[in-house]
Amino acid sequence: MAEEIPVLRAEKITKRYGETEVLKGISFELHKGDIKVVIGPSGSGKSTLLHCTNFLVKFDEGRIWLNEKEVDYANKSELYAYRQKVGMIFQDFNLFDHLSALQNVQIGLIRVKKLPKKQAKARALHELARVGLGEHVAKYPAELSGGQKQRVSIARALAMDPDVMLLDEPTSALDPELIGEVHVVIQDLAAGGMTMMLVTHEIGFASFLANEIFFMDDGIILEKGTPEKILSNAECDRTREFCARIKNLHPGAG
Ligand SMILES: Nc1ncnc2c1ncn2[C@@H]1O[C@H](COP(=O)(O)OP(=O)(O)OP(=O)(O)O)[C@@H](O)[C@H]1O
Ligand SMILES: [Mg+2]
Repeated sequence: MAEEIPVLRAEKITKRYGETEVLKGISFELHKGDIKVVIGPSGSGKSTLLHCTNFLVKFDEGRIWLNEKEVDYANKSELYAYRQKVGMIFQDFNLFDHLSALQNVQIGLIRVKKLPKKQAKARALHELARVGLGEHVAKYPAELSGGQKQRVSIARALAMDPDVMLLDEPTSALDPELIGEVHVVIQDLAAGGMTMMLVTHEIGFASFLANEIFFMDDGIILEKGTPEKILSNAECDRTREFCARIKNLHPGAG
């Protein structure tokens, strides 16, 4: 049987800030429907890896392919098209404060996808309803809870028809009682077959959702494997120590 082609493939991504090598040649593949969860200590390079994967940060060496087509950083229109296909969700939502929920979702459809306004509105309303915000479309970010803001940000990414979603600690800025509503949306995406790479310390959620966990340490993927392996049978001491620590922080998990 022919090997299925990965949706996204990154090869030997290297990123330096001054003398410090923050990513030391990281390679990974995301296949259709994969949910890779990235864990690791603060400063190990998790956010940088996601930012480089979305070309928000320019890396020094390495290559990225989407559906086997290599992305050319120098080609602006190709880069914009790539960013639509690889949605990014940030810890702090990254919404426009002066725009309503509806306008936040609509704006990319109008400006980037060049949809007529009426069509853009219909699509935005559909995506907002999909994340359970049908009643809140006219509200501004200041009038929304953290969980609602994060769901607007997910609706905005979904409106662009992404092939992949990159999520960087999407619930870490939320009060505990709001985390669940964002997890439900992410679970729905997973059930719908969305390909995702997710940085999170919510280890119970991660082990339930992930088909593979990457443990990052000091700019490399030190160890990867099924949630069971990484959380309970890791080979490296560093992985075991880290997992023990986060299990203490999130009791009842894993
Ligand atoms: N713009 C920047 N300029 C200089 N150094 C940076 C920059 N961004 C990140 N770094 C450094 O790169 C390293 C990796 O940072 P990164 O934010 O990727 O870590 P992380 O694993 O996401 O950590 P956290 O769990 O705290 O979010 C850190 O040492 C950080 O100080
Ligand atoms: Mg980070």
